[in-house]
Amino acid sequence: MVAVPATDPAVSADIPRRQVDFDFDPARVPVDWYQDDAYVSTLLDALSLLFPEGERFFVDSVKALRHHVRDPQLDAAVDGFIGQEAMHGKEHRAFNEMFLAQGYTSSVKLERQLKGLLRLVRRALPARSQLAATCALEHFTAMMAEAALREEGMRDGMHPAIRPLWVWHALEESEHKAVAFDVYGAAGGGYARRAGVMLLTTIIFFAFTLWVQTHFLAERRLLWKPWRWLRGVGHVWVYPGWFTRLVPAYLQYFRPGFHPDDRDTAALLATWRERLFGDGGELRANLRGAWVQ
Ligand SMILES: [Fe+2]
Ligand SMILES: [Fe+2]
Repeated sequence: MVAVPATDPAVSADIPRRQVDFDFDPARVPVDWYQDDAYVSTLLDALSLLFPEGERFFVDSVKALRHHVRDPQLDAAVDGFIGQEAMHGKEHRAFNEMFLAQGYTSSVKLERQLKGLLRLVRRALPARSQLAATCALEHFTAMMAEAALREEGMRDGMHPAIRPLWVWHALEESEHKAVAFDVYGAAGGGYARRAGVMLLTTIIFFAFTLWVQTHFLAERRLLWKPWRWLRGVGHVWVYPGWFTRLVPAYLQYFRPGFHPDDRDTAALLATWRERLFGDGGELRANLRGAWVQ
């Protein structure tokens, strides 16, 4: 077994590139893996479906403009960002294969549609606007990640075989939340483009996520049985209202002087790094060998 060093001197200590491996057994995990709730489970499945291709887009948009980066620390952070997003894509693909095996066969077609949508975005938008879309979506993931790390109730509803994937992803989204934003700044990206692209991205993101979730609920023949999933709607939008409670953090993005680090998560991250990957950490056994180089 290869020893796992405490830090990787090759990259910014703030954004370590952890190589992990999780095991998703379709026979062991219930289809409604979030509190036996079809709505929340399919919503999180829909988000996961977006990740492999979406995160590839994030990486490409950052790579396209990283030549503007002059600060060696930010340059090292970009390496960390690329490594983390690549690993998220790999593990979410494994997770997505699990729910495909459980019967969500439409996921193949939906991922093809997502690729088509991203191809269109790549063709239609200039590089700075593509990076602005990445910044917008990184703000979404950072908001959701912070909530997942802070709120035990959000994590508790997850099946124990699935929780490590989302908690690890949340930690790393928080760790690299400012990287795309800082590259955008280094590349001369301005406020008007950032705010405008956020509005457009919000609409497309919610519309596509809803599109995917609707397909999954239809495949389960639950679309017209709202009593099977209304509890989940209330959970997400009313109480505790996961998404509704994120509105103030979402609006902060529209302040001209906004920066992702305005929300101080340093202490939260230190706690979770230790809890997951410190000596005897909960996910220490999921680390595979050395850090990804
Ligand atoms: Fe990610
Ligand atoms: Fe990210």
